[in-house]
Amino acid sequence: MCGIVGYLGNANRNGVDVILEGLTRLEYRGYDSAGICFRNEKSELLTIKSVGKVQNLKSLLELNKNRPISNMAIGHTRWATHGEVAEKNAHPHVNGKLAIVHNGIIENLYELKSYLQAEGVQFSSDTDSEVFLHLTYKFFNSGASLKDAVIEAFKLIKGNSAFLVIAHDLQEMIAIKRVAPLVIGRNSYQSEVFVSSDPFALIGYADQLLFPEDEVVAVLTLEEEPQFFELNGAASKRFSTQNQQMHYSDLGKGSYEHFMQKEIFEQPLLIKNWIHHYLEGQGKKSVEELTKLLSIRPEKIGRIHLVACGTAWHAALLIGDMIERTSRIPTNVQLASEFRYKNPILHANDIAIFISQSGETADTLAAQELCKRADLFTLAIVNVANSTLYRNSHFNLLTHAGIEVGVASTKAFTLQVLTGYLFSKILKEREGFDRNQFKHNVYELLQNMERGLDRAGEIAAIASELYSKKGFIFTGRGPYFPIALEGALKIKEIAYVHAEGYAAGELKHGPIALIDEEMVNIAILGSELFEKTLSNMEEVRARKGIIFAIAPKEFSEVRPRLGNHDFYFPLEYGKEVDLNPLYVSTLMQLFSYYVAKMRGTDIDKPRNLAKSVTVE
Ligand code: M6R
Repeated sequence: MCGIVGYLGNANRNGVDVILEGLTRLEYRGYDSAGICFRNEKSELLTIKSVGKVQNLKSLLELNKNRPISNMAIGHTRWATHGEVAEKNAHPHVNGKLAIVHNGIIENLYELKSYLQAEGVQFSSDTDSEVFLHLTYKFFNSGASLKDAVIEAFKLIKGNSAFLVIAHDLQEMIAIKRVAPLVIGRNSYQSEVFVSSDPFALIGYADQLLFPEDEVVAVLTLEEEPQFFELNGAASKRFSTQNQQMHYSDLGKGSYEHFMQKEIFEQPLLIKNWIHHYLEGQGKKSVEELTKLLSIRPEKIGRIHLVACGTAWHAALLIGDMIERTSRIPTNVQLASEFRYKNPILHANDIAIFISQSGETADTLAAQELCKRADLFTLAIVNVANSTLYRNSHFNLLTHAGIEVGVASTKAFTLQVLTGYLFSKILKEREGFDRNQFKHNVYELLQNMERGLDRAGEIAAIASELYSKKGFIFTGRGPYFPIALEGALKIKEIAYVHAEGYAAGELKHGPIALIDEEMVNIAILGSELFEKTLSNMEEVRARKGIIFAIAPKEFSEVRPRLGNHDFYFPLEYGKEVDLNPLYVSTLMQLFSYYVAKMRGTDIDKPRNLAKSVTVE
């Protein structure tokens, strides 16, 4: 949550523009407020903040007749934790001499705040972040260098955070982090240095990226290469370097109205690239290495823990099911926020798999840490290469979903499940991994998905009949249960309408009380247990609920009309296909997209949310 960005450069580029562009790209991390602080030619720190999206900040700056120009600036886009959404709580926090931006949470806020207040410090916001400003200033004002002041302040705070600090009379930026993401950018053609919460903000600016490890302070000036120090002041080598791998083409939404729409429709192409990567491209090496690693006898593996949050947890449920069905190895699928505090039973012969789009989700990272301490082999199914989860894993399978800008996860989910499917097949078949069969299965999904997306108009038409209804209950059995959960999450988060995902057989254990003429049951009928799910649907019909049935095409011959609205898909009745749930999930993504569009919500940036959840 929250995005931070910083720029220090020469006169060829206006730092204010770099910050505004960076904030626009980081807006997925939070959009409660945005702000910028820049140093002018008189060495004054000037700050402009506004509530709401980055566009509001841009408009404010455009109103300013003298468009600010600066070679040193920091900016922030906020997802509120401490303090309401208000201008006074927007970052940067500034006291005239220093300015800071912060991503994360200071857990010992109250203790530190009381201490500072007892010393006469006045607070002008309700944020935890302001504590860091005053602590740093206290040391800086007593003669410490900016670097040492930041170190001393950082030593006092608890919790996971990234900070970026500037002073009015220095040409330098100081950055430090614990767990929260932070990247430093350089380019080969100009003397400039950038800081960001995500390399995405640095596309087109920086070609070399440096990732400091936790509790390493970075001192950034124009005179020298970035310098890194440990908290004891010693020079540090704890940082990694990488070339920028993202491109301009990753930035836009093309001819689509929303990023979410683009991301839904690009899934077949991504799947095609994904299969090429793992079977014929550079990913072949990962497949070979994983095969070697898993070439132990199944009885040697204890349990496989699958840990994740939100949509990624739904992917984990599906992957867990795939592993159990094929290898009969017990799995333990857990929400990271629960797993980390429940003192889980872990054995050294267990495997722990963490699934995440961003690779920065605080709870998932903490769960990973726990498993590493218990000596488990950890594997990440992750989209962002070089994210914290990626760097801390023993082994990674990248999902190659590309940049997902829409806050609601769509393509990332599909590729997480596919990547888990790859894992489950290698685990089962090991040296005998049948690449041709695997490719065939994935291509079958790909083709079905393309045909499903061609029928988006049918889904839109159904959405137009249902979008104003009171609520939605998604039901499914087996692998369609996680799809029901995911369908409900999607519609909740982007259409702001109440929705629940239920195992179809559970309906009568409580939620059926919600059924009336205004409640929609989206009944997903797979080919397994079809009749049983059908009976559950009938129970809804008997109570006058509205039914949107999604079912295998073959069944339409037996029973031409299932619900008030039917969508038949090309699956042979009685023949379940491993990846068909992903096809149905694409239909659910389309449905929630159209419902949200008809309800007029902010689809790509739904209220109260942020794409990367870096607080617990
Ligand atoms: O980056 P992660 O995959 O770890 O994020 C986990 C969840 O926050 C995420 O899946 C969230 O539930 C989705 N944005 C919902 O669409």
